[in-house]
Amino acid sequence: MQKKITIAIDGYSSTGKSTIAKQLAKKLGYIYVDTGAMYRAVTLFAMQNGFIDSEKTNASALVKLLPKIDLKFVYNKDLGFAEMFLNNENVEKEIRSLDVSKNVSQIATIAEVRYKLVEMQKKMGIEKGIVMDGRDIGTVVFPDAELKLFMTASAEKRATRRYKELLDKGDKVTFDDVLKNVQQRDYIDSNREFSPLRQAADAIEFDNSDMGLEEQFERIYNYAIRVIEKQ
Ligand code: DC
Repeated sequence: MQKKITIAIDGYSSTGKSTIAKQLAKKLGYIYVDTGAMYRAVTLFAMQNGFIDSEKTNASALVKLLPKIDLKFVYNKDLGFAEMFLNNENVEKEIRSLDVSKNVSQIATIAEVRYKLVEMQKKMGIEKGIVMDGRDIGTVVFPDAELKLFMTASAEKRATRRYKELLDKGDKVTFDDVLKNVQQRDYIDSNREFSPLRQAADAIEFDNSDMGLEEQFERIYNYAIRVIEKQ
């Protein structure tokens, strides 16, 4: 039997990482983990507890309550993917709102939050056979991953995709607001002190600005098969 590998997919927000990662995991029979959902759930917790207002984030209050935050992925057979549960409540829908998107990069700068989530992520990957997407998977969580991808696309393309997704879900948002959010998250994610968004030296850069989903999947699946066959 072929050995299982670890696949790390990093990149800018709304580059379609999770769509590709989910499909790839399904086709390979691997586990899929969306680490952004974990940062989003911690952000929702901080919002629910009043630790975030328009002025600033009360990081120390959040850090004190970190042990009380229970995060779980629960597989939904009908949807074909795992949903995020925060303290036993399904928060899959809430964590995708623009409100959470506006605050999540700030929460992801907090070292203690990153430490807790990275530890959980490392444990999930112990047996390999995993596709994980995020910002620091190839650099921090799985620096030894056999396949690393770094997804990019222009900010306008990414905002257009995200805007459509949010409108389809019935969210009342403007394109400018979504574009601003994408640009702000790029800036904060790339400039934070702890494990900023960086392309790992051994990652394959993948610009999908002008590529449909099918072509992206085909190319990435082929990369994966080539690496798996070499094991
Ligand atoms: O992938 P996403 O857009 O759902 O991620 C939401 C935010 O979480 C993103 O702006 C940065 C942060 N994040 C991170 O810092 N590290 C990760 N591994 C995943 C996400």
